[in-house]
Amino acid sequence: LFLSFLFLLKYPSRARSLDDEDVKRSHFPDGFFFGTSTSSYQVEGAYMEDGKGLNNWDVFSHIPGIKPFVTIHHHDIPQELVDRYGGWLSPLMQEDFVYFAEICFKSFGDRIKNWITMNEPNLLVDMSYIRGWYPPAHCSPPFGNCSAGNSDIEPPIAMHNMILGHAKAVKLYRELFQLKQGGSIGIVGFAEYFEPLRDNEFDRQAVSRALAFTNAWLFDPLVYGDYPAEMRLYLGSALPIFSPEEINYVKGSLDFIGMNFYTSLYTKDCIHSACISGWDRPIRGFVYTTGERDGEPIGGRCGNPRFFVVPEGMEKIVSYMKERYSNMPMLVTENGFSPPQQNDQVQALLQDTNRVDFHKSYLAALARAIRNGADVRGYFVWSLIDNFEWIDGYSQRFGLYYVDRRTLERVPKLSAKWYKKFLANGTTDH
Ligand code: NOJ
Repeated sequence: LFLSFLFLLKYPSRARSLDDEDVKRSHFPDGFFFGTSTSSYQVEGAYMEDGKGLNNWDVFSHIPGIKPFVTIHHHDIPQELVDRYGGWLSPLMQEDFVYFAEICFKSFGDRIKNWITMNEPNLLVDMSYIRGWYPPAHCSPPFGNCSAGNSDIEPPIAMHNMILGHAKAVKLYRELFQLKQGGSIGIVGFAEYFEPLRDNEFDRQAVSRALAFTNAWLFDPLVYGDYPAEMRLYLGSALPIFSPEEINYVKGSLDFIGMNFYTSLYTKDCIHSACISGWDRPIRGFVYTTGERDGEPIGGRCGNPRFFVVPEGMEKIVSYMKERYSNMPMLVTENGFSPPQQNDQVQALLQDTNRVDFHKSYLAALARAIRNGADVRGYFVWSLIDNFEWIDGYSQRFGLYYVDRRTLERVPKLSAKWYKKFLANGTTDH
């Protein structure tokens, strides 16, 4: 500083006039060195070529900052396969799914170490072939607006094809890729928890039927090689049979259980007493499910009228799965909140303290389950950004990031900042 000051005093006019437009090489002394700089590590690449050994930056810079978990089938299938043979209603779909899965394993298996074959087959079948809300909109009374279908026959068939498709893809992965690529493979189910509507034995039995007809419908075959006994009892011959050969590869076709968990509901028995409407189809085990008891919701309300904020359900579903499946590794692959009565009040959507509170309470319940011994290995927020919520279109905003629907600008909500801080500091404050 002192030297520069002297220079300015001595040559004030020259220092002021020499701006970057004027600068010339001749302003520098003869013999002045000009050049450019690089370093070998920053430009050469080829970190494993020609017998070079690993250096400390090779190791450090290859630690992945992200580990992707890839789902091969998440709800949509090519329309051509629907037109050609009816999609998941046909066993042909099993082979086409395996063909697609093999392409994924081959193309990405060097980088993907966590595979999920399918997302929520149990929900997809329910929506597509019982309620008729998702394509191909097949259903039966008491569900309205059905284009075709028979809810007693089609759901078990579609589920069977999905389970066999999954198991065949896992068999292929294990035979050809798993050892070489060193990954793990599982499936994700839509997990719901249930509480008895009334404190009586019949409604408590309805709880265990509902759990079996939703969660165990998917996971019992994959762990034990057959559908839940509760389902066989009620569905009889409508429930497909696995051949001995199929059992060999269906049973144990999971390295982990994936669960998407959002809500709990009340269950009411529909065998010993009549149910009013809606959910008393055989596939549900003659159970009526509802979010309300005497007009009071089971938990805080969400944008989706069938979802309620019931954090303790997280602890209960994890404990249920832990008991039923001998505590095999579990991942919570989705958990999230869309606010009720959404409008485009941007500021309110950005200040989403309700979403932060949702995640804090569900995480606390999950931590309790883990402290009680549940082998849960991960938790994923649904969703990174606001997106297209199937039949609800753009009316639901599940994202940690707000998306401006016109400009596609993405803005972090309070919850995004909170989650980042929680992950960085281990704090749940906001
Ligand atoms: C489950 C599904 O996997 C996902 O596609 C959906 O958007 C969310 N849950 C929220 O409903």
